[in-house]
Amino acid sequence: MALMDKIEDTCARFRAGEAEISRTFYSKPRPLEQHVLALRIQVAREVRNLREISLGELTEMVDRTDHGLPREDLVHELAEHYFEIRHYATLAYLLEGISGERVDWKELNVQRDTAEWTQYGRKERDCRAKWAKISPLHESAGSFNSGGAGSVAFGVIGLKGGDYEELLAEVGKIILHDEMAHGDVLGNRHPLYNLVKTDEDENKALEVIREYSTIRVHGRNYQYGNPLPKERIEAIAWGGIEPLDREALKMAYTGAMDEVEWFERYHAASKPLYSTTIKR
Ligand SMILES: [Fe+2]
Repeated sequence: MALMDKIEDTCARFRAGEAEISRTFYSKPRPLEQHVLALRIQVAREVRNLREISLGELTEMVDRTDHGLPREDLVHELAEHYFEIRHYATLAYLLEGISGERVDWKELNVQRDTAEWTQYGRKERDCRAKWAKISPLHESAGSFNSGGAGSVAFGVIGLKGGDYEELLAEVGKIILHDEMAHGDVLGNRHPLYNLVKTDEDENKALEVIREYSTIRVHGRNYQYGNPLPKERIEAIAWGGIEPLDREALKMAYTGAMDEVEWFERYHAASKPLYSTTIKR
């Protein structure tokens, strides 16, 4: 086995687990409150880039451009903001579209530090902070499997039903495209690839990735109102699931629409959004 193969395989199994959770959730009608919670948690996770821009991080990067900051870095940063903000915008509309609840990113930003429903997000952050203090290898491993929005997105692609399900399936494609395309287009392989040089390094990184991803998969199950039984979550955490490889993910987002078309479709649909998976 080549270096990083075990890590890639482990991540592909956790990815499949996250996709199974969202797919199971939407496989039958469930109460509105569960849909609202699932979306609210996701929207709150997508608030990060708004917060960073609001804090002036982008302004600071623009000021350093041509003064030490490579231009490529600025372009990369802007692309990431664009992607993440379109996740925020589409998901926030969907939340408003099913619930009538007005979304305010600043309120969500406060809640992510305090609300009970953000507990798993906080656990993930605490672990990553802990690893950042241990070594660059630990820190890097802690972020290796962090782009998991793509996995839950994979689980909703192909969803059919009302305006809600179809708009959600399109957001799934957009998110998956962004999570996958970002690394490829900009050629930035994850730094962990440069840090894992021996089997021992790989095993250390693997331990971190397993711990982090286990929190993630529990958090996802919580987010969707525990559609999978505890035993199934445990089996997934031990790798008892077929891996979901990157090629399958790439195939799934072909024909993704751009956000302009998505916004038009959203605004044209009557509200609350007609849905076949929400029990009203
Ligand atoms: Fe995102």
